[in-house]
Amino acid sequence: MSALLQANALSQTFGGTTAVKHLNLSIREGRCVALLGPNGAGKTTTIRMLTGLLRPTGGSIHFQGEKAGEDIRRYIGYLPQTPSYYGWMSGEELLIYAGQLCGLSGRMAKTRAAELLQRVGLSDAARRRVGGYSGGMKQRLGIAQALVHSPKLLILDEPVSALDPIGRRDVLALMTELKEETTILFSTHVLHDAEAICDDVVIMAAGRVAIAGTVEELRAAYRQPIIELRFEEEDDRSIRWSHDVLAGSKMIAGGASVTMQDGALVIQGEDLDQLRRSVMQMIAEDDVKVSQIKAGYTSLEDLFMKAVGSGGSMDRLIP
Ligand SMILES: Nc1ncnc2c1ncn2[C@@H]1O[C@H](COP(=O)(O)OP(=O)(O)OP(=O)(O)O)[C@@H](O)[C@H]1O
Ligand SMILES: [Mg+2]
Repeated sequence: MSALLQANALSQTFGGTTAVKHLNLSIREGRCVALLGPNGAGKTTTIRMLTGLLRPTGGSIHFQGEKAGEDIRRYIGYLPQTPSYYGWMSGEELLIYAGQLCGLSGRMAKTRAAELLQRVGLSDAARRRVGGYSGGMKQRLGIAQALVHSPKLLILDEPVSALDPIGRRDVLALMTELKEETTILFSTHVLHDAEAICDDVVIMAAGRVAIAGTVEELRAAYRQPIIELRFEEEDDRSIRWSHDVLAGSKMIAGGASVTMQDGALVIQGEDLDQLRRSVMQMIAEDDVKVSQIKAGYTSLEDLFMKAVGSGGSMDRLIP
């Protein structure tokens, strides 16, 4: 399947700072793509280049079916990270204004505004001043504005980062509905939000793509069986036992690595059933006083932390 948007070796330098370095990105039609990364990773810079607001210092961007010399901005709807509105306008007036800027007649713009207000759940607030909208309402209005010209690709820069839990939930619910109709690229530094709604993930660190793939691919490729043990405090035998396991003088069958994290002994291996069996057997045989045992898999959160944590581990993870 050909990509809706393809960016090749995209770079951006501000004076002496390289914000984005040789970034390759492919957005497939119909997908919801999360652009993840910590503050300063280069998400906004990437997005501003994709939307045509910032000319790349290197690389190229292609939109599916674009004709030579065509302005691809007509295919893209964009919600900036910090949008600003005329607070004295009503939501309806603002959308009519946006529609007219896109070339719609007054009547068409009014019809489109009503449709969009309905679509983002703001019909009841249509006549209220935008200055009095809550954060979540403003973001939903911003999404409506980005949809005015029926774009093929909707790009949202941190659509939920500044919102309280209720605003967050509302905007994520709207995005979940919209992703059935449009291709979406959105940035966030919260993995949980990304995992909740996206199909594909691109993790950026220091201006580069550290990891990219579908959510399923990343889960399958990076998740590892893990067992976490906590012991009764001040039990000498348990403390000695955990030290022995940590030092490797006591081996757990199937345990590939052992670390101590926040006072818990963390054992990673290849096969969860085997790991659990051998851990339980050893605990019983050595009569260790365990207060808590947790068995499961490393999460995408662990992967994200690994990818953005340090330059060294990032290089290791670049496919
Ligand atoms: N106009 C500019 N002039 C100079 N440096 C810039 C400019 N815009 C961004 N930068 C730098 O480029 C780097 C990437 O910034 P960018 O805003 O793209 O990151 P981000 O991933 O969007 O971060 P955040 O999560 O904080 O929004 C940062 O080091 C930033 O200081
Ligand atoms: Mg940003």
